[in-house]
Amino acid sequence: MALQGVMDTLKNANLEEIGVSFSLADLLRDLRIDGNNVYIKLFSPSEKYHDYLKEKAEKVLKSIGAEQVEVEFTSEPPKQQQPPPQPPPQQNPFENRRRIPGVKKVIAVASGKGGVGKSTVAVNLAAALKKMGYEVGYLDADMYGPSGPTMLGAKDKQVTATPDNKLIPPEAHGIKMMSIGLLLPSEDTPVIWRGPVLFKALSQFLFDINWGEGLDFLIIDLPPGTGDVQITLGQTAEIDGAVIVTTPQDVALIDVKKGIQMFNEVQIPVLGIVENMSYFVCPDNGKAYEIFGKSKTEEIAKQYNTELLGKIPIEPKVAEFADLGIPIVLAKEDSNSAKAFMEIAQNVIRKLSE
Ligand SMILES: Nc1ncnc2c1ncn2[C@@H]1O[C@H](COP(=O)(O)OP(=O)(O)OP(=O)(O)O)[C@@H](O)[C@H]1O
Ligand SMILES: [Mg+2]
Repeated sequence: MALQGVMDTLKNANLEEIGVSFSLADLLRDLRIDGNNVYIKLFSPSEKYHDYLKEKAEKVLKSIGAEQVEVEFTSEPPKQQQPPPQPPPQQNPFENRRRIPGVKKVIAVASGKGGVGKSTVAVNLAAALKKMGYEVGYLDADMYGPSGPTMLGAKDKQVTATPDNKLIPPEAHGIKMMSIGLLLPSEDTPVIWRGPVLFKALSQFLFDINWGEGLDFLIIDLPPGTGDVQITLGQTAEIDGAVIVTTPQDVALIDVKKGIQMFNEVQIPVLGIVENMSYFVCPDNGKAYEIFGKSKTEEIAKQYNTELLGKIPIEPKVAEFADLGIPIVLAKEDSNSAKAFMEIAQNVIRKLSE
């Protein structure tokens, strides 16, 4: 006799006659089939129904060809089914994220590769937003090579503190700014930040600054790469968007991909890519030259579902004014680079409101 046939028969054998809604199969605790002989063990706590159940089982099983039907009973309750082991609760690394107090929108400026102009973009983005009438803060989170104080002409500014020990950011060009560079004894002091120290310094930085009455935008200038600072930032603070800076060279673009992937992993939306040092306008003939070759940034932006926020030309004045502590947006507003920065600021605002 086939097991399936026996099971089906027991399932179909309803026990309506004794006023219950289940079948013999529901009471089954054991089943053995030996040729045409069937042995079953049924659960029945009361002897009252034994005869009825035995007769019922014999009848239905013999109707499908069983010769001998042996029925036993047990009153033992069914074994409690063990619930399947649950996976340990997943710790969401982002659940402890906090908003930086007093700031409406936090924007991180990042790059996979060093020296592509991240600080230049961060400072000029801050200046462009300020020029548009917003309240803006700039936080230099580059613990290794803080260049914010130089670029904003704020090297000699003093950082004071509130009675409850919050740092008060000095202002430069109307931008509230804070940099580890302002807290170090001298410019030559080597900064060796490692793991916990870095974490502490950064979280102090992020949350222990008194940004005053409220900022519309806080621009965070990150160190290059996809390391501790970026991860710490992603896990501790709510960042509204990241701007990734690159130059048109292939080597820099490889790092753009890494940067986008990292921000996806730490769940920070990428607002778009800024291509710096895109082209050089020859002062003699006014022609634009793509010194680093044809740009692939737009292609990569599309590929990663983001956009090109703007292209900034190489202009010696950008670096000259940076060394003087004046962002080009404020120093030479009719230059190509200043215009490009203003357009980028517009695009950033648009992306944040989408
Ligand atoms: N569009 C530009 N035209 C001319 N010079 C530029 C331009 N962008 C940046 N520079 C100059 O290039 C140098 C590097 O720029 P910047 O410091 O902004 O790069 P960074 O990515 O922040 O570097 P780091 O990785 O060290 O933090 C600076 O001297 C800066 O003034
Ligand atoms: Mg920098």
